[in-house]
Amino acid sequence: MKIIGTGSALPKKVVTNGDLESFLDTTDDWIVSRTGIHSRHVISDERLEDLGRDAALKALADAGQKPEDIDLLLCSNVVNEYMTPGLGCIIAAAIGLHCPCIDINCACPGFIYALDIADSYFKVGKVKNVLVVCAEEPSRMTSWQDRATCVLFGDGAGAVVLSEGEGVRSVRIGARPDPDKIWQFRPLEPTPFVTKTETGVPLQMQGREVFRFAVTASVEDIKAVLAEAGLGVQDVDYYMIHQANLRIVEGIRTRLGVPEDKFPTNIADHGNSSSASCPILLDECKRKGLFKPGDKLVFSAFGAGLLTAAALVEW
Ligand code: UT7
Repeated sequence: MKIIGTGSALPKKVVTNGDLESFLDTTDDWIVSRTGIHSRHVISDERLEDLGRDAALKALADAGQKPEDIDLLLCSNVVNEYMTPGLGCIIAAAIGLHCPCIDINCACPGFIYALDIADSYFKVGKVKNVLVVCAEEPSRMTSWQDRATCVLFGDGAGAVVLSEGEGVRSVRIGARPDPDKIWQFRPLEPTPFVTKTETGVPLQMQGREVFRFAVTASVEDIKAVLAEAGLGVQDVDYYMIHQANLRIVEGIRTRLGVPEDKFPTNIADHGNSSSASCPILLDECKRKGLFKPGDKLVFSAFGAGLLTAAALVEW
């Protein structure tokens, strides 16, 4: 399969570090020096499905495809307002798709997990065109009193259209199951029978341990997808790393020994938008004209689960 179109959509509200200083015990200096984030887009009056719809429509237009051309929608999402139906079905209805919709909850590596699933559908000949939409609102998962988490995240949606072809050369997904490192608990409706205590807990994260996992797992994944394709780290034109923390991106870059200009970033004005991070970065880089045909792009992402994934794409 190959990527034939990209799109993204962001909430209009921009929250700066200065805005956070007004109600949190934090500073612009701490956030910038520890994460590289200056501001983030946060959902206010939008609905997440509208961002997903807009990103999907832009990707379809970019690909020159119509809704009826799409054989499968894969939607990556951690939380949204609906428990059911899946966000993919809601987006499909909004853009007039009539194909199967599968939602996945694979946190930050969700985009690459979706690529892996799509790859299998292409390989068995079940699809000709697949739409992947990653739509996330992590701002609704954190406590806005918790300075250790809420400063890190931003909302948004990114989408790609995949078609038959040779572009995506190698995909690797993996897990080191350890649910206690990043988690959130959302209580369900009570029943006359439930006797357990169920109290909602906002997003919890063991930051330092996740940081170490992210750098180690990403370097391992990147080397594995490159080895599978018979390439070295210097053969890659752009490393498209999940935008969780600029220091994580920098840690990966220095361990690989690759120059800075091969690591495009947008974390400064987006923060961490979970699985939407990689496709938003892809769309922005593409629209800036960064890529030329034949460029080799490596995607790498890591997050709750703990899950990890990487992919090698020839543009
Ligand atoms: O999407 C994938 C999942 N997430 C990640 O990849 C995130 C991975 N982890 C990280 O990016 C980093 O660990 C963080 C950015 C979350 C934290 O950076 P850190 O350098 O690991 O800081 P820390 O958690 O060790 O905290 C250092 C200090 C603490 O104070 P004490 O205990 O040293 O007095 C924190 O309480 O910084 C304090 N702190 C803050 N201070 C000001 C934590 N958050 C803030 C804040 N403003 N927003």
